[in-house]
Amino acid sequence: MSNHGALKTPQLCYDFGVKEGQKILLYGKREFLVEYRPGKEIHTHLGKIILKEGLNYGDLLRSSTGAEFVVLKPSLADLMKDVRRKTTIIYPKDAGIMLLEAGVASGSFVGEAGTGSGALTLLLSRVVGREGKVVSFEVREEFIALALENLRQSPFRNYEIIKRDVIREGFGEFKFDALFIDLPEPWQAVPWAKKAIIPGGAWVSLSPNMEQMKKTVLTLREEGFLRIRSFEVLRREMVVRSFGVRPREVMHSHTGYITVARRGR
Ligand SMILES: C[S@@+](CC[C@H](N)C(=O)[O-])C[C@H]1O[C@@H](n2cnc3c(N)ncnc32)[C@H](O)[C@@H]1O
Repeated sequence: MSNHGALKTPQLCYDFGVKEGQKILLYGKREFLVEYRPGKEIHTHLGKIILKEGLNYGDLLRSSTGAEFVVLKPSLADLMKDVRRKTTIIYPKDAGIMLLEAGVASGSFVGEAGTGSGALTLLLSRVVGREGKVVSFEVREEFIALALENLRQSPFRNYEIIKRDVIREGFGEFKFDALFIDLPEPWQAVPWAKKAIIPGGAWVSLSPNMEQMKKTVLTLREEGFLRIRSFEVLRREMVVRSFGVRPREVMHSHTGYITVARRGR
């Protein structure tokens, strides 16, 4: 029997008012992802756009040349791709399936190494939410500062970045539901990960090269991890028009190989 009748009408979780400091997507003939400050002027080749006081998502703005832009809330994919970067980042096409495979949801306690520019950390922070926590490890001070700057786009202060070489020192006393690894030598983190992931918890790594993926899989096997699988994600955009629907010629064809596994007993 369905108990849907017992559910209360949910509160509207969509806040239409744009808050100062938040990123907004100006969508028109071109798209611009900009930080909102009341009165700020955005200079584009389609003219000057003034961000008015009390801006709401869905508002229509006109540039000085008459070009129209709708104010949209950026997606998590937009925000990830927009982080200021000094490292390669994990792309949304990979990050989505990584989260699904790890079973990460609101309230999860997740670990990550290395933090890099914080693109994945930003996504993890948004997904685990108020009840969850993200602990990210990074060996280089400059990347910690950069990631903290990028993490200002998360509405939650549910993350911590620890300066540590995890290959030499491991993950300490933490016990994570899932651990995300984006390091040059992921296989070296496997013995440490075995101590830092709860039994049944998830290992998820991404590596650009097959040799890295192979070494990681072999080490996961040696260390008794279960359900080990590696794959890559290919995303082909489509050109849809009245005649001649087909894939776009240009494609982001290679990012990395994802390896997922579960810690056994
Ligand atoms: C490719 S970047 C990670 C990018 C990140 N996933 C993102 O989406 O922005 C790899 C990071 O691992 C860090 N790193 C490399 N070896 C490390 C180690 N032994 N311990 C901790 N961090 C390490 C590097 O400094 C670098 O910032």
